[in-house]
Amino acid sequence: MRIQLWLGMLLCSLASVALATERVNIYSFRQPFLIEPILAEFSAQTGIETRVIFAQDGLLQRLQREGRLSPADVVLTTDFANLLELKQLGLTQPFQLNNTLTGNIPAHLRDSEQHWLALTKRTRNVYVSRDRSADITDITYEQLVEPRFKGKICTRSGKHPYNLSLIASMIAHHGEVEAEQWLRGLKANLARKPQGNDRAQVRAVYEGLCDIAIGNSYYLGKMLEDENQIAWAESVNILYPNRAERGTHINVSGAAIARHAPNKNAAQALLEFLSSAKAQEIYAQINMEYPVKPGVAPSALIQRWGTFKEDELALEIIAKYHQAALALVDKVRFDL
Ligand SMILES: [Fe+2]
Repeated sequence: MRIQLWLGMLLCSLASVALATERVNIYSFRQPFLIEPILAEFSAQTGIETRVIFAQDGLLQRLQREGRLSPADVVLTTDFANLLELKQLGLTQPFQLNNTLTGNIPAHLRDSEQHWLALTKRTRNVYVSRDRSADITDITYEQLVEPRFKGKICTRSGKHPYNLSLIASMIAHHGEVEAEQWLRGLKANLARKPQGNDRAQVRAVYEGLCDIAIGNSYYLGKMLEDENQIAWAESVNILYPNRAERGTHINVSGAAIARHAPNKNAAQALLEFLSSAKAQEIYAQINMEYPVKPGVAPSALIQRWGTFKEDELALEIIAKYHQAALALVDKVRFDL
């Protein structure tokens, strides 16, 4: 009887160990077309099964509501703001910083307390009209305030995470006073009130509403692949601001381990896989983003746009100035 009981307990604990190492639950802001092929490769390599909940919104609230009963192990985010928010809300726990992760992800692209890491990068580019501004072959973010660009620039809301991150980097590099002057100057050069998404700015160049647009790198690739948008993409040249000096501003997508992850080991294994050459190549090919892992090449299309230096300002520093950036956008009434 005692032996039976003991055997029963042993089997139970073996079963739970097996369960604990065989599955990882993912909450993903990133879309299925991108994540599913990567997870299929992860399962093929590790034998770990994946379950994903995809959602554009509401995942953070869901994690908060579920609390310690949450099944989530890993959260995948589309941008840096989401990543930060996860940590600020106490929804993350540290991953283990081992040789794999230090080798695959440069220090400026991860949290020094290991609560989040970047998995892909995108540059914040300036697009110029091929018809009207082909003579501009190099630019800096600072130059966007020059009088020659008066009434010529289009951008989305200053409060969008992509722009907030850029403004935060301007504060980090120049201090708040100069960054405010810069933002006022940029506003003064806008062709229209900030509106729409990044692609809409390139479209506005195509339609002749402006000569210069600000937007992330991968959108150019996506527009070139879309028969309804290819004409917009072909109406611009892509520039990498500050490429010759401190480097072009980047923002990132990333991942974190959930605070109450039931399968922490599998979560760690997934983060390591996502930073590996194989996963980094899939991100690069499917979504036309820049790999974070040194030595992994971007897609052939993106390589044709040329090389650039990346601004290696630590994401943690950009994070520190996010609130100040938001306050500046309000102060200069950038969107109004
Ligand atoms: Fe985007």
